[in-house]
Amino acid sequence: MNNTEQSITKKHVNTQYLSAERVAEIVNKRGLSACIAGVASYINQDFLRWNSFDKCARVASHSDVGVIELMPIADDKSYAFKYVNGHPTNYRFNLPTVMAFGVLADVETGVPELISELTLTTAIRTAAMSAVAARALARQECKKMALIGNGAQSEFQALAFHHLLGIEIFHLYDVDPAATDKLQANLTQMGLKFQRFASIKEAVKGVDIITTVTADKTNATIITPDMIEPGMHINGVGGDCPGKTELHADVLRMGSVFCEFEPQSRIEGDMQQMPADFPVTELWTVLSGKQVGRSDEAQVTIFDSVGFALEDYSALRFMRDVALELGMSEKISLIPSLPNPKNLFGFIADNSHSTAMVLPPLSRIAPAFVS
Ligand SMILES: NC(=O)c1ccc[n+]([C@@H]2O[C@H](COP(=O)([O-])OP(=O)(O)OC[C@H]3O[C@@H](n4cnc5c(N)ncnc54)[C@H](O)[C@@H]3O)[C@@H](O)[C@H]2O)c1
Repeated sequence: MNNTEQSITKKHVNTQYLSAERVAEIVNKRGLSACIAGVASYINQDFLRWNSFDKCARVASHSDVGVIELMPIADDKSYAFKYVNGHPTNYRFNLPTVMAFGVLADVETGVPELISELTLTTAIRTAAMSAVAARALARQECKKMALIGNGAQSEFQALAFHHLLGIEIFHLYDVDPAATDKLQANLTQMGLKFQRFASIKEAVKGVDIITTVTADKTNATIITPDMIEPGMHINGVGGDCPGKTELHADVLRMGSVFCEFEPQSRIEGDMQQMPADFPVTELWTVLSGKQVGRSDEAQVTIFDSVGFALEDYSALRFMRDVALELGMSEKISLIPSLPNPKNLFGFIADNSHSTAMVLPPLSRIAPAFVS
């Protein structure tokens, strides 16, 4: 084996591991708004390389109460996937609606180089994505945003829109007043201004941007046409699954609709309510200057967000890079390190605490096979 081969083998022996606690530590050290801005910048870079990626709609397994999804994507260097669920009634078990983890792997060898929590990171990347879209689509001077749905994602959305869009005041509404109490306390701690409202209609009146980030596995009509004012930008985050929408179909007809990856958004986004030829624009074409985003001040723009694998690829890259920069990387042995890659069997003996590998009789291990 020559030196290059040896160094490749050595480099790939361990997998970098980012636990939820480690990611929280990284966010504390770097600052949450800096992380959101950093992920937004990685997303922007990766969306400009749209055609370098092998893309597909995520693979979803639905049940009556939720969904479990796998989200793969690759370019010629790295492969990424995210495991994520969406269970709006998980509060019954004191569990979050959305939980996730993911992997970044080396395309040349298939080695999983990073395994990371993605629950916290998903909230950061979703807020970053919302801000990237709003910067391209919303009016220049936006000061007020309604935040409908005050659960786990909401603080991240508020912080992204405050720091990256200049939103000064947030109008809050949630069917669960305790969720708004929690958001209110966290926004106060962050020094952000807000007002609470008793209905969605009152909360959205006079704002520049509406963010809907509710969780309910139903065709909800959180936003109806009578609530829409000229020039508004709608950031629809919670309608992200078949049979789970937030915007009345006529709202979509009132403006220009933008999405992440059209084949996935047609199935999962609010646009699932529309016919197959309903016009939508993929955001990457606006970011790269191929298509116009907002054409005038009075136009209504709608970002029909569902969450796309490329955003997680960007977020995984960001967290890996920051962890390395801060010297906060932990390594785990996920893949056996083999002196002879064809002798996987030998790995068992190499890690045995007894001197000989004693095989118990087959009748004890698998009685069904010998009876
Ligand atoms: N597009 C994306 O990339 C993306 C990423 C992450 C999460 N999501 C989606 O965002 C949504 C919110 O996620 P979360 O983690 O904050 O969930 P969460 O359960 O923590 O919070 C959702 C909140 O919505 C509120 N709500 C439900 N129905 C409502 C209604 N009719 N009006 C007002 N409020 C209502 C609930 O009371 C709850 O407080 C979920 O639907 C999730 O699937 C989308």
